[in-house]
Amino acid sequence: MTVSEQVEQGRRVEPRPATKPPGSAKSGFGATLRVDRWIIKPGLIAFGLIAFIIYATVSAVFAIPGAFLGIDYAAEGYHSPFFGIAIGETVLPAWFSPAILVLWIQVFFRATCYYFRGAYYKAFFMDPPACAVGEPTIHRKYGMENRFPFILMNAHRFALYLAFIPLAVLWWDLVLSVWHDGSLRLGIGVFLIAADAILVSLYVFSCHSFRHLVGGGIDCFSCTANTRRRHGIWQRVSAWNQYHGVWAWASLFSIVLVDLYVRALALDIINSGTPIIGGFL
Ligand code: FES
Repeated sequence: MTVSEQVEQGRRVEPRPATKPPGSAKSGFGATLRVDRWIIKPGLIAFGLIAFIIYATVSAVFAIPGAFLGIDYAAEGYHSPFFGIAIGETVLPAWFSPAILVLWIQVFFRATCYYFRGAYYKAFFMDPPACAVGEPTIHRKYGMENRFPFILMNAHRFALYLAFIPLAVLWWDLVLSVWHDGSLRLGIGVFLIAADAILVSLYVFSCHSFRHLVGGGIDCFSCTANTRRRHGIWQRVSAWNQYHGVWAWASLFSIVLVDLYVRALALDIINSGTPIIGGFL
């Protein structure tokens, strides 16, 4: 029996093409019938991602007490979210940033995210530059996510399982921020870390792989109490999932905001003598 006969009878899945087939957009890099300024969106995404990558690298790797910039990542009982609760800081050499211990999980998770893939494939690889816009013909040789290194994108669900670890650390960090020096406090830092924990949670729990985790692999949603319960969770996750890109960006901004706040405290740019906010640190 030939492969095509097996495919027809459902005994075999159609083999994926080894290289990318030509798309339906006009051929040639940038060729399009679109009359709007389609370049603005991928341009903004490229700018935002490059800015975040540079900021995160400098802050998480070089802005620690024993390294190049020598700035503390903790102040007034708050931690920068790049460092979590700074696991291992006491046993690591001073020049080694403890952020690296958890940051690789964040990079793995966000780099394989379905939303970010769509965004940075367009912004950085022009694959395609935007919907209905022609891409470089060299992409015809591209083996898509069937070959190394992009085949690693298929590991996103495992990145999701790992992402629960820094998320739990983030919420624990919030608890430590609220319970400070043996008493409760509600300061600006607590508010910022709480907002960050909520936005990162919305990003993680609106993940497409999480949506599959709670609602996938079921033939009948209404058959048992358990599947009905899973259907309810799946509907909630699906509602969050519609805004997955929003949570993706909002959580990046909130991470930077908390980091900036902690660094400002560490550098004494903000302190208890600062007008208006000094009493609510
Ligand atoms: Fe974006 Fe999973 S699809 S985090």
